[in-house]
Amino acid sequence: MKKKGVSKKAVKRNTIGSKKIEAIKIIKKSSRVKTGVKNLDPLIQGGLKSSHINLVVGSAGSGKTIFAMQFLMEGLKAGESCIYITFEEKKEKLYHDMTVFGWNFDEYEKKKKLFYLEYNPEQVKSLIEEGGGTIDQIITEHKITRLVIDSVTSFSLLYQDELAKKEAGLALFGLINKWGCTAVLTSQATEIEDQLRGASLQFEADCIILLYHFKQKGERRRAIEILKMRGTNHTNKTMAIEIISQKGLVVFPNKVIDLKSNIN
Ligand SMILES: Nc1ncnc2c1ncn2[C@@H]1O[C@H](COP(=O)(O)OP(=O)(O)OP(=O)(O)O)[C@@H](O)[C@H]1O
Ligand SMILES: [Mg+2]
Repeated sequence: MKKKGVSKKAVKRNTIGSKKIEAIKIIKKSSRVKTGVKNLDPLIQGGLKSSHINLVVGSAGSGKTIFAMQFLMEGLKAGESCIYITFEEKKEKLYHDMTVFGWNFDEYEKKKKLFYLEYNPEQVKSLIEEGGGTIDQIITEHKITRLVIDSVTSFSLLYQDELAKKEAGLALFGLINKWGCTAVLTSQATEIEDQLRGASLQFEADCIILLYHFKQKGERRRAIEILKMRGTNHTNKTMAIEIISQKGLVVFPNKVIDLKSNIN
């Protein structure tokens, strides 16, 4: 007599089925993560690649922190959990500065959707040596999907020689990859020519976005360039970008900037 219940075949079918679901989940995971920056996503095949490490490089005041916060706010609005690690920004001041764009980070922190961590570079150094520490716990417990480090510059200054810097950078990237979050790391560059050299982590990053803040006829203007984005057919244009109240960063894709004739 045939036993009632689930047949071996059915179990096999279900296993295959669940494997399929897993595969779909993985495909979905590797799909695009919206940046929140107006008009940017259509130029980069829908957004940043999930689980990729993105470096946002620019001079002082070029909009790196605003970019990073806009990226976090996009996730928070979609119900995601996010983490912001900084060495420089003071929380109250930062949250207050962001309200001009209509972003209330305080509210998300209270709801335990946003985790704000102020670390000094030494603490990050030991964090790397420990292999994650408390951040590890927050990331798994709260299923963090978006991570920002603002900025990595002071961290890399901890290391004197290039080799040590590179090794520490690799260790940091290893940690972020282990966490699986989509990451935005900001990096300071003093001069426009330094944009590339300044980013010592440039080779390990999956994506590099450059923010320019240049002078034209006595007026500072802004531009954005996607220097590289692995696995993406991205725009090759350097385009005008503006910081606008209640909106944040807005890209103007049709305003192509010829930086060479503008840098002074
Ligand atoms: N409401 C606003 N409207 C227009 N521009 C604004 C507004 N708020 C801030 N800005 C511009 O954004 C700049 C600050 O941007 P942000 O803090 O993101 O720069 P940053 O690249 O992170 O700088 P740093 O290297 O100092 O950390 C200000 O200097 C100002 O020019
Ligand atoms: Mg900043």
